[in-house]
Amino acid sequence: MSLAALLDRLPIPILQAPMAGASAEAMAIAVSRAGAMGSLAAAAVAPGDIVAAVEAMRAATEAPFAVNLLMAPAAAPAPTVIDVALARLAPWYAELGAPLPAFPNRFTHDFDAQLRALIRAAPPVASFSFSVLTRDQVDALHGAGSLVVGTANTVAEALAWAEAGADGICAQGFEAGGHHAYFLEDIEASSVGTLALVATVLAAVDLPVIAAGGIMDGRGVAAALALGASAAQMGSAFLLADQATVGPTWRQAIMDAPQDATRLTRAFSGRYARGIENRFIREMRAVQDEVPAYPVQNRLTQALRAAADQAGDPQTMSLWAGQAVKLARPGAAEDLVRLWWTQAQAATLALAQRMERGVSDP
Ligand SMILES: Cc1cc2nc3c(=O)[nH]c(=O)nc-3n(C[C@H](O)[C@H](O)[C@H](O)COP(=O)(O)O)c2cc1C
Repeated sequence: MSLAALLDRLPIPILQAPMAGASAEAMAIAVSRAGAMGSLAAAAVAPGDIVAAVEAMRAATEAPFAVNLLMAPAAAPAPTVIDVALARLAPWYAELGAPLPAFPNRFTHDFDAQLRALIRAAPPVASFSFSVLTRDQVDALHGAGSLVVGTANTVAEALAWAEAGADGICAQGFEAGGHHAYFLEDIEASSVGTLALVATVLAAVDLPVIAAGGIMDGRGVAAALALGASAAQMGSAFLLADQATVGPTWRQAIMDAPQDATRLTRAFSGRYARGIENRFIREMRAVQDEVPAYPVQNRLTQALRAAADQAGDPQTMSLWAGQAVKLARPGAAEDLVRLWWTQAQAATLALAQRMERGVSDP
């Protein structure tokens, strides 16, 4: 089946965004069972555990689901780079009474090994962020029976994914929470709003487009579909869901967030990501361009973020969230997607009635 047909047949054309660190199997299963499509974020899953994770999803639901990997580059930083980066982080570790980490023996899971495991696992949909697969890698996924979705922040990135043979594009706008997927240009050139990105990608690429970024309820879903997207991908809207693996400090920070609370920062991970602004983001802003690139800085701040979480200190945690996170609501993920679809239908009906009035009473 083509991706267009799969999305068209979804009872609810909503994708739960993969969210490493904020979502796991339970959320993906609940969303897929409800008639939308769940995504398993597998970036932090070891290659040896990927097949079992996908099998568990398959055993739990016959409905389609996606599995997502982050295409992290292999990292072999010089020891001095680590020394400088850790020296910069030392006061933050000291403040929390946490020991400075030793030189890590690995910075993230090996992407090629994860991809090989994913090909063996053959999920219905495989999605990727941070780079673009080669044509051979896409062919291997197709050969295994998986459809391939590539994430793009720009039209050029969408074209690169189309060139590689992807079945669809996840167009991730600047509004999006968490890491941004950009890989061809710098963050400034890659900062396009969801409305502009979805429309321009649709005009340039003959593939189904999934809209992501700033979609928080049924109005956003209806808007994405009206724009021509085949589905809406929602991340931040699920952060307060019962199944979100978001701890109490992060949840409270979302509920307490002031209006317009999010910022893009490179300080936590060495790659621009959007989260609720806190002291770490503010005080590291001046040096954020100097920290080592992802995944190195991400690894070096891992223990810091965990210590802050343990201490209940939101000021040193990466509180990933999108621009519209104030609209996040608690509830079971399966109830939320059903509610959003009802809202989308109501919004569309209200719009149709407005159109009718325009026609009959010009
Ligand atoms: C906490 C969090 C973690 C995320 N982790 C991933 C990930 O592992 N892989 C990925 O492709 N995108 C990830 N994203 C981005 C989402 O897939 C999606 O593009 C984004 O949430 C859409 O914007 P929204 O948050 O405004 O809904 C993450 C987003 C958040 C908020």
